[in-house]
Formats: sequence, C-alpha cells, structure tokens
Amino acid sequence: MAWTYQDARAAARRRLPHMLFEYIDSGAFDERTLAANPAGWGKLRLMQRVMRDMSKLDLTADMAGGTASIPVALGPVGFAGMYARRGEVQAARAAASEGVPFCLSAVSVCDYEEVCRKSGTAPWFQLYMIRDRAYMGDLIDRVLAVGARTMVFTVDMPLPGIRHRDGRSGLYDTGPGGFVRQAWQGIGRPGWLWDVYLRGRPHGFGNFAAAMPGRTGLGDYWRWIRENFDCSTNWGDLDWVRSRWPGKILIKGVLCTEDAVAAFDAGADGVVVSNHGGRQLDSVAASSEVLPRVVDAVGGRGPVFVDGGLRSGLDILKALAAGADGCLLGRAWAFALAAGGESNVAAMLQALKAELRVAMTLTGCRVLRDADRSLLDIGKPFPAT
Ligand code: GLV
Repeated sequence: MAWTYQDARAAARRRLPHMLFEYIDSGAFDERTLAANPAGWGKLRLMQRVMRDMSKLDLTADMAGGTASIPVALGPVGFAGMYARRGEVQAARAAASEGVPFCLSAVSVCDYEEVCRKSGTAPWFQLYMIRDRAYMGDLIDRVLAVGARTMVFTVDMPLPGIRHRDGRSGLYDTGPGGFVRQAWQGIGRPGWLWDVYLRGRPHGFGNFAAAMPGRTGLGDYWRWIRENFDCSTNWGDLDWVRSRWPGKILIKGVLCTEDAVAAFDAGADGVVVSNHGGRQLDSVAASSEVLPRVVDAVGGRGPVFVDGGLRSGLDILKALAAGADGCLLGRAWAFALAAGGESNVAAMLQALKAELRVAMTLTGCRVLRDADRSLLDIGKPFPAT
C-alpha cells in the first residue's frame, strides 16, 4: 500500500507516547495557522494538460547547491531520536538513499558528529541562537570540522510559541510527579519503550549536551530552551554567523517581503518561507499565501524554499508553481520515522516521487522549471458547489 501522510500520522499515534505524538502534531495557541497551512495548498487548483508526450521527465532539483532527486529536503525537527531509535541517523540514511538533503535540528537527540559518522553524509545543520555565544561558536566549528556546508538558521523561534496541547499532554512536566506521568505514557507503548526508550539511549540534546549538565527529563529540556534561546538576536548577528560559516546560509522563518529582502541584504544565500508549521505565532498567514509575494520581492537573488502543511507530491508541485525552489518537510517525515523508522521515511520519499511524477505528467511539466503560476489559480479557490 502506498505511503500517505494520514496513515503515517495514525501509525505514529499508535506507536508513540501521547505527549510525543502531541508534540509533533500540535501547533500554537488556537492552531489556526496549523490548520491553514495544509488547507492553503488544498485550495490551489492545478491546470491539467494532455497529449504532450510526457515520456521523459526530470524530477531533479538544485537544493542549495546540491542536486536532489526531487525538490525536497527533510527539514529540521527537534527530538527525532525520541520517535525512533537514534532517529536522526535513520532519517539521514533514508534521505541519503533517496537522494535528498537532510537537515539536522539543533535540538536533535543525536549530535551532528554521530549522524555524520553513522549515515556517511554531512547533513544541513540547523542553527538556533542561544545566549552563550562561545558555545555557539564552538558548535559551529565542530560541525564544520566534520563536513557541514549548509546552515539553516531558524529565526522565528526567539522563544517557544504557546502550545496548549503540550501543556495538557505533560510534555513540560518536571519533578517526580512529571516523571510518573510521562513514564505511565511510556509504559502504555511497550514497543516504543523497548526500542526507543531503553535501546535508543542517550536521549539528551546531543549538540547541546555539554551546555546542559544535569538535565534529564523532557520538561527540563523545555525549561532550558526557554532560558537559553536568545531573543535579542537581530540581523546584525548574521554578520557574526557569516564570519564563522563559509558555506551557504538559509534563513528560515521568513513570512513577509520586508524580512525576505532584509535576509538577502544581510548576506543570506536563501530563505525559507515558514511559519514553523503553525507552532510559533498563531494567526499568521499560511505559507502558500505568502510564498508568491516573497518570490516576487526577492526577484531571483537566491533560492526561496517553503515549508508548512506540505503532504504530497501534488502539494510539492503546487509550491513550485507558486515560485518555490524546493520544499522542506517536517511533520511528514517525523510521523514516517515514528511509524516505521528509516524504511518508512524512504517509503515516504518514494511516494512523493511517484506523486510528483503523476502531477508533472498531467500538468505537462517535463522539468520542474516548467511549473509556473499558469498551472495554478492562485488565491481563487473553486466556488463552493
Ligand atoms: C522546535 O523547533 C519546535 O517547533 O518545537
């Protein structure tokens, strides 16, 4: 049976302790933007074209300097080593076998070196700015030393969004009471308990392990994030990052034309249009609404990637038609990983490829740059019947 987002989500729900499923699945505040993201892609209509000899297609894309088999990267997702045993390594391997980039979250369970060593790849590296700049500088040097070349600097999380489902699920709980509540959820998922909790240790924030001695539980990690993420970060700090990072820098979390232009003015190589999967500021626009405006504003100064609510190869083609150079996936691969590890992430990528092939064939796109706005009816959903 073909891979689908909904099946992977349902399987992840059965496999993961409740608070981990909720952490992946939820959004901020009333989750309006969380819902708007997939709905935004859903509203766009594709133009079908026929009788065009579609026997030869090229699905490959330039993703920040490397050729990918499809215009997709696995975007940064925190805690993936809690969804499957050494989860970041499994996802990096699946991405490598299917020929797409993998971006390691700064707040991953496996550190950058482990993922490199065990996957034989040098993933993209996500930067979150923490207050301790000496630590940040050392971390940048560490990942560069083992081969990192592309940084995704996520700028829309100077502090975490207010996520009510995480509060309710017990994710933030600390102390003995919190431990008992979380352990109870783990006991209810024996497969996960054995495979991930017992055999997948250690479970700290690999890249930041040395910066947080003594932290042990999930609630502790959240407290550390709240205390250490640096909300004074500004465009001037990009000079600091730039002076240490010789490779490409993509600024992720841009949602308006002014910030997109500012990112390029400040020295970024590309931007990612993103509302952090609806996990940060609720009631902001869906990615699909902002993307065309950003693409027009940056006028080809560098690639514009997009994430948020992309579920299928059809969504990917729509994003490209709206002007994106490529798509980042978050929840899709996190659920795939939780549902079935490396092989399920690979199955997801194969399914996206098959769907993209159908979408290109039936829209008359032999190469991805054929996908332009003539394929879409942007902003004009079909009238309700
Ligand atoms: C981290 O990036 C999160 O959204 O939880």
